[in-house]
Amino acid sequence: MTTSQARTRTTVTTRLDRLVHEVRETVARRLPPERTAHLVGERLAPHLGAADLLTDRQREGDPGHYRQHVLHAEPDGGFSIVSLVWLPGQRTTVHDHVSWCVTGVHEGREHERRYALMPGADGPRLVATRDVVNERGQVCGFAPPGDIHRVWNAGGDKAISLHVYGADITRLGTSVRRTYEPPAGER
Ligand SMILES: [Fe+2]
Repeated sequence: MTTSQARTRTTVTTRLDRLVHEVRETVARRLPPERTAHLVGERLAPHLGAADLLTDRQREGDPGHYRQHVLHAEPDGGFSIVSLVWLPGQRTTVHDHVSWCVTGVHEGREHERRYALMPGADGPRLVATRDVVNERGQVCGFAPPGDIHRVWNAGGDKAISLHVYGADITRLGTSVRRTYEPPAGER
């Protein structure tokens, strides 16, 4: 999720415009991050898989790396929405986020590994805690701290997910707070 990726802006469909309004209403309630993420997930879920949510361009991947399309950045910086397009085998680093984050699978399925930092003799060490397969239509909400994970496409077809962040990632340049070295034995 680099700066150049984050600055790629695209058209807003009628359905996406509706989603933006729904997220705006939810964020305006100024609830705690966990609660906001939960409610945003409820608003996102009904749109996942709908053929009129994204344009063809917003579904395009990149053979070199998973691709991010910025769909919306709220002018007051309160939230942003992106689509992430994963071709088979593509994945993220191990990372956490600058804000609450809601993900929803629009097409295909995403594999996700979650991690925790555990005390070790040489300082905190990263330990994998859970593997999850997120199917089309499923949503997940995160709020820092404790949101360390990586995501990849283990399937043979394209996967697309929608991500809503509680910050304007086009201003920040990224949704990632920090990246981590994977535990030994993981590439
Ligand atoms: Fe993430």
